[in-house]
Amino acid sequence: MTALAWVSLLAGLVLLGLLLYWLFIIAEGAYLGPWAVVLLYDWAARAYERIKQYDPGDEQWFLGLPLARSLELVPAPLVLDVATGTGRLPRALLRQPAFAGRVIGLDLSRRMLHEAVERTAQFADRLTFIWQDARCLPFDDDTFDCVTCLEALEFIPRPREVLAELVRVLRPGGVLLVTNRIGWEARFLPGRAFPRAEFEALLRALPLEGVKVQPWQAAYDLAWALKSGDPHGGGVRPLEQILRCPNCGGRLRREEDGFRCVGCGRLYPVAADGVIELHAGVDGQGKRAVRGGSKQTPGS
Ligand SMILES: C[S@@+](CC[C@H](N)C(=O)[O-])C[C@H]1O[C@@H](n2cnc3c(N)ncnc32)[C@H](O)[C@@H]1O
Repeated sequence: MTALAWVSLLAGLVLLGLLLYWLFIIAEGAYLGPWAVVLLYDWAARAYERIKQYDPGDEQWFLGLPLARSLELVPAPLVLDVATGTGRLPRALLRQPAFAGRVIGLDLSRRMLHEAVERTAQFADRLTFIWQDARCLPFDDDTFDCVTCLEALEFIPRPREVLAELVRVLRPGGVLLVTNRIGWEARFLPGRAFPRAEFEALLRALPLEGVKVQPWQAAYDLAWALKSGDPHGGGVRPLEQILRCPNCGGRLRREEDGFRCVGCGRLYPVAADGVIELHAGVDGQGKRAVRGGSKQTPGS
């Protein structure tokens, strides 16, 4: 082999290494599709909190407390945490004595949800976890007093549409709390992370008011906003009143082993750990509604 061939081979390997580093470490599979993101999070679920090293004091001071304060005039707020992961936001909020509401945490990684269940056991009576894709939120318009999505928009295809979906299920007057990736890695997340001014403009283009984007963590800005319009909707209600079938939009009725759609008849199981598995819904003949679902015990 000539020297030139060796150099070319080495350069090729370095480029391949950089490409893989970008694809799997920086972008966490985001440009390969949700299947890759979920694969990585399922795989890392047990180690996630150890890697993140959330400081409980910081979580209370910079997340739980300001969020609880923003909801203090609502007697029993209903909160949706999209891409809840291991339940970081539900924990921070439910630890606040001033918060007297309920939280629904939704995520597409089943193993992250199982971790969330284990880490929030003390709040189980005020918390529900749902296995579902954030791109199709299974709720009516104007349902929640608060919708949050932390450290996740950059991993979901078409983040602009996801933002619109978050706002759709938020009630007028309700609080939106979302993050936008910043820092050097954001430059390598085209179409997923936005310069601060652009993110602000993107939020202002939605039916939102009081938009405020502030520095939060080294890698994230935090954006606050209220949904425009005359306040209505919100408040804690039974799940059957707010859940919608992700397949046909029909109402879901509680049955012994899950929720059944009154429209298309699909059955969505409730797993042994309590997670509502919309992503694993089956129709009347026992066929899957959504590909990729699994009814095996997660986290095993
Ligand atoms: C960096 S973690 C953030 C978790 C949590 N919000 C936090 O702040 O710790 C990103 C989360 O987004 C979830 N996620 C990625 N794509 C998703 C999608 N299409 N629908 C729902 N969740 C998704 C992942 O499974 C993962 O739990």
